Amino acid sequence: MYSASSIDRIEVKNCMSDTYSNDLKNDVLKGLTATQKYIPSKYFYDTYGSRLFEEISLLPEYYVTHTELSILQDTASAIIENFPEGDLIELGSGANVKIKTLLDIAYKSYLADIRYVSVDVSEALLVKALKELVTIYPDLRVLGIVADFTKHMKEIPLDRNKVFIFFGSTIGNFTEKESIVFLKNIARFMGPNDRFLLGLDMVKPKEILELAYNDPPGITSKFNKNILSVVNRELDANFHRDHFDHVAFFNGGKNQIEMHLRANRTVSVKIKKLDLTVEIEKDETIRTEISRKFRRESAEKMVDEAGLRINRWFSDPQGWFSLVELKKSTSYLWKEHLRTQIAQRKAKRVKG
Ligand code: SAH
Ligand code: AVI
Repeated sequence: MYSASSIDRIEVKNCMSDTYSNDLKNDVLKGLTATQKYIPSKYFYDTYGSRLFEEISLLPEYYVTHTELSILQDTASAIIENFPEGDLIELGSGANVKIKTLLDIAYKSYLADIRYVSVDVSEALLVKALKELVTIYPDLRVLGIVADFTKHMKEIPLDRNKVFIFFGSTIGNFTEKESIVFLKNIARFMGPNDRFLLGLDMVKPKEILELAYNDPPGITSKFNKNILSVVNRELDANFHRDHFDHVAFFNGGKNQIEMHLRANRTVSVKIKKLDLTVEIEKDETIRTEISRKFRRESAEKMVDEAGLRINRWFSDPQGWFSLVELKKSTSYLWKEHLRTQIAQRKAKRVKG
């Protein structure tokens, strides 16, 4: 179906094959024995879960995707100009819907020496999306890295100019602390001319937020319950999806949507691969996701603490979503410069 030349332009590296199963075991053991039970949201995205997320993206109630896309369509030329060659590195790329807007513009401007690097935990989705991209864009080289972006950043090639991209407000799925650790880690890999495009979902009326996570057709509910099927399959557990209800609400104190699975009866679950039985009381919940929403001030504080600065801020007319272009902050660059100089001087002294 694909010409040899398009296949030749795809390279895939898998960093997860050895670690996924152990990570899942540790995370589920920790999460289901905690006082507030939880399962980390990265485990939503098996093949079925990724497909459900694509369906969510098309829902009119889930304003996130179409709002971010509209901003991107308006700003793609401004974003891509001054980037004649280098790597566009997308983290948590999913189905690659948004990157096409940037690549379309890059191709119209004949900026063909761009490589697209896509990082995602979901291998099936990643490979499918990359095959599609090389057929659409002649000469585009793509590198897929099946990896956990909280753990495997060292696997990303860093030898060219870079634009890091983190669309969809996936940063909101981290706690405040985790998001700063994550951003700091990216900042470490950025040079003074590199950029970082970060999608941020903004605080808005509770009704709009809650409808986006409680869609009438119930796709988000299916997506939420799918995490139980992942645990059943991977850890030989016997969760029954009908014994849980989907719950999603806006926690105004923390400015975050929380998704939970609430037991509608007393439940006893055996997880054979953990040699564990988990007792869950009626009405007790397992938290499956937080989705933090931002204000300009909270976003500025977060990026500042991570050693980054806002270069450009793009938004839709209602201010529902923001696409923020970040650069490494000057003070951070100075600190790095001084540290290198001190290390070089020390090395000279030792030699001398
Ligand atoms: N960027 C897309 C998809 C967002 S859904 C968009 O804006 O629409 C979140 C994506 O991040 C999924 O594709 C999921 O597989 C991936 N993901 C979640 N946690 C991850 C992790 N820890 N490491 C790598 N990818 C992750
Ligand atoms: C990927 N992430 C930013 C989505 C969100 O909105 O937090 C995942 C999602 N959960 C429910 N609907 C979509």
